[in-house]
Amino acid sequence: MQITKTLTTNPKPAPDWNNLGFGAFTTDHMFIMDYHEGRGWYDPRIVPYAPLALDPAAIVLHYGAEVFEGLKAYYAGDDQILLFRPEANAQRINNSSVRLCMPELPVEYFVQAIKELVGIDKHWVPKLPDTSLYIRPLVIATEGVLGVRRSADYQFIVILSPVGAYYPEGLNPVKIYVEEEYVRSVRGGTGFCKCGGNYAASLAAQYKAKEMGYSQVMWLDGAERKYIDEVGTMNVMFKVNGRILTPELSSGTILPGITRDSVLKILQSWNIPTEERKITLTELQQAIQTGTLEEAFGTGTAAVISPIGELNIHGEKVAISNGQIGPLTQKIYDTLTGIQWGKLKDEFGWTVNISSQK
Ligand code: COI
Repeated sequence: MQITKTLTTNPKPAPDWNNLGFGAFTTDHMFIMDYHEGRGWYDPRIVPYAPLALDPAAIVLHYGAEVFEGLKAYYAGDDQILLFRPEANAQRINNSSVRLCMPELPVEYFVQAIKELVGIDKHWVPKLPDTSLYIRPLVIATEGVLGVRRSADYQFIVILSPVGAYYPEGLNPVKIYVEEEYVRSVRGGTGFCKCGGNYAASLAAQYKAKEMGYSQVMWLDGAERKYIDEVGTMNVMFKVNGRILTPELSSGTILPGITRDSVLKILQSWNIPTEERKITLTELQQAIQTGTLEEAFGTGTAAVISPIGELNIHGEKVAISNGQIGPLTQKIYDTLTGIQWGKLKDEFGWTVNISSQK
């Protein structure tokens, strides 16, 4: 793929690297490629970051035909920049697209677009500890037609944002409210997709939890409100009696997290038993009562690992790990981020060094 490049003549001022927050800043350039039915993907280009021109009838604006991804570029010292498992994001965006009747992207286009865009904006990759360049690829349906149907036109876009911690709490434990009214997804729905609609539908529960002093919700399954699905925008893991339990993906209601998969592989390499299976809220409550719930944490690209320090279950507040980050949670965080920032040997072959990109 030959990417046309138009560089900005009006670079943005640098952000305050010490106060990046999450998603508040975007870089100087973006990648765009168009799609038309019968023609396929065409006109890949890197252009100055700017608002899009969209037909107000564009399908994405009415019926939510949108999928996205999230991954990061990490500064590894000596002008080295690492990506983490970008092919996994490429595969996942395609799985999301298929479910939403949207066109798939060749994996190599996805990865090349990111490599070249990050290469052009490499001075935007933050260098301070625990900061990174968040990469947001998305595909939107752009045809201007009000019928509910597949779009004939799409755009694949990549934007970049230098980020710090996702939660203001950083690696401090978060308080989680177990949500029993709203649900995130149902069997047969789009729970396994990273599509905007899932997040739009989750906001009401998020704000309800916030009003009660909680950072996020724990989602239960949509049919019976019995099984644990996810926590906030993250996958969830529990350490019970020395074993790590996490909800299985088979129901299609849970996002197949790349951080989730990486954490499971790291644990397995340490010979820590892992179980991917259905977990009922009752089982969790029993583990709390018997004192066997040792640690709990969320996993996701944005926050990496987010320890859970308190759960509110049916109005009852329970502290986990005495409200502290558990030792295994800390070790997983240190190991995964150590690999991502190139400080630890990457025995899994996950990181992709893009330092040669211009
Ligand atoms: C992630 O953990 O990467 C997410 O899904 C959060 C993102 C939607 C900001």
